[in-house]
Amino acid sequence: MRRKRDIIISGFSKLLKEEKLKLVAEYFENPGEVVSLLKSFWHSDVDQQKLFDEFSENTITNFYIPYGIAPNVVINGKTYLVPMVIEESSVVAAASAAAKFWSERGGFHSEILDTKKVGQVHFSWSGESHTLFTMLPSLKRRLIESVRPITANMEKRGGGILDIELIDMTDQIADYYQFLVSFETKDSMGANFINSVLEEFGQTLKVFLSEQIQLSDEHRQCEIIMAILSNYTPECVVKTWVECKLDQLDNVDEKLNGEAFARKFEKAVKIAEVDVYRATTHNKGIYNGIDSVAIATGNDFRAIEAAGHAYATRSGKYKSLSYVEIENDTFRFILEVPMAVGTVGGLTSLHPLAKQSLELLGNPSARELMMIASVMGIANNFSAVKSLTTKGIQAGHMKMHLFNILNHFKASENEKNAAVEHFKDQKVSFSSVGQYIASLRK
Ligand code: MEV
Repeated sequence: MRRKRDIIISGFSKLLKEEKLKLVAEYFENPGEVVSLLKSFWHSDVDQQKLFDEFSENTITNFYIPYGIAPNVVINGKTYLVPMVIEESSVVAAASAAAKFWSERGGFHSEILDTKKVGQVHFSWSGESHTLFTMLPSLKRRLIESVRPITANMEKRGGGILDIELIDMTDQIADYYQFLVSFETKDSMGANFINSVLEEFGQTLKVFLSEQIQLSDEHRQCEIIMAILSNYTPECVVKTWVECKLDQLDNVDEKLNGEAFARKFEKAVKIAEVDVYRATTHNKGIYNGIDSVAIATGNDFRAIEAAGHAYATRSGKYKSLSYVEIENDTFRFILEVPMAVGTVGGLTSLHPLAKQSLELLGNPSARELMMIASVMGIANNFSAVKSLTTKGIQAGHMKMHLFNILNHFKASENEKNAAVEHFKDQKVSFSSVGQYIASLRK
């Protein structure tokens, strides 16, 4: 009998993995097959599997996503093979095509604008704000002192706390203040370091206030609402660009010369600066590249994307993260994105493939990885806008999607080979592939 979906399960996390798997399988018509399928994705090496099981709660199997390589990525004169983990068929192809294209035109250029990360302690205090600001210098000293055991190591690596700002937000929420704290975390993403410091700050603030005998009983207390890093990192930013003379774009499209292509490309990017519908898709294309590298290197792609989309609204309006400049016969395409990544700590050394990815990249610093990931962002963005403004997106996209469609029709190897040949100069669509496979099978 199939398990009813509306029953609340208690103690699921306490079950053994096999028990969880069996329980889940009972929600299907064919539990035996489901167990076999899920188990077929287990790692053959028990120790490796255990590692994956321990990354997250309630793991019952692994979910595979392709791991691909974009070769020929020239950044500031150095050539990389960039690992990309992504399920969307055309992303690695688009990135690779852009990498090759720009390798013949000076490569990608990239520079770090800043690497500051931030966190906040949010708290309520009912006294007069000027009293708090008067105590701030001695409070800051106490705060810094209280986290010495946590910051000592980071300071040895050249990082630590950069600044503590007290912000009065009582005009928006009664009694609400925050410490806005900035950090340098060197090669680590720094989330655990930052959160530990902030939580300690919260405790220290409470103790500090309780000791201020000049204050009333009520004002010797505060409520720590929460202490957490912010994923908005507008001062942890990388700028990446490509540039070439307009005539070096002459052969991009058979109908447009270099200058006409550049102007059309510029218009397409300007549309993403003024129109939120287009901007969202345009920026999504950028994150196709950035997220793929983030995942391949064990970085938190949700944090990176969240920062990027918030950054895209910094003018008060959501806009394209990239822009075009055409001056002195030169086309320049620029991407500026916040990027909090790490190359030590977290999953970067625990996940065997993340570790391998970093090795393939030459064990980069976090600054270098910021450049590499943003390059894959601009590479994908360039390829997407180039296709959109010339032959359209579907031609290339559907060619790459061909294998997915063929798999949908359960095509054999021979059928796949024949289809690849046939669709070299034919339009790929779900129905055209379906018809072709049917004709082969007749
Ligand atoms: C698809 O994943 C991404 C694109 O839609 C990006 C774009 O339109 O710029 C092709």
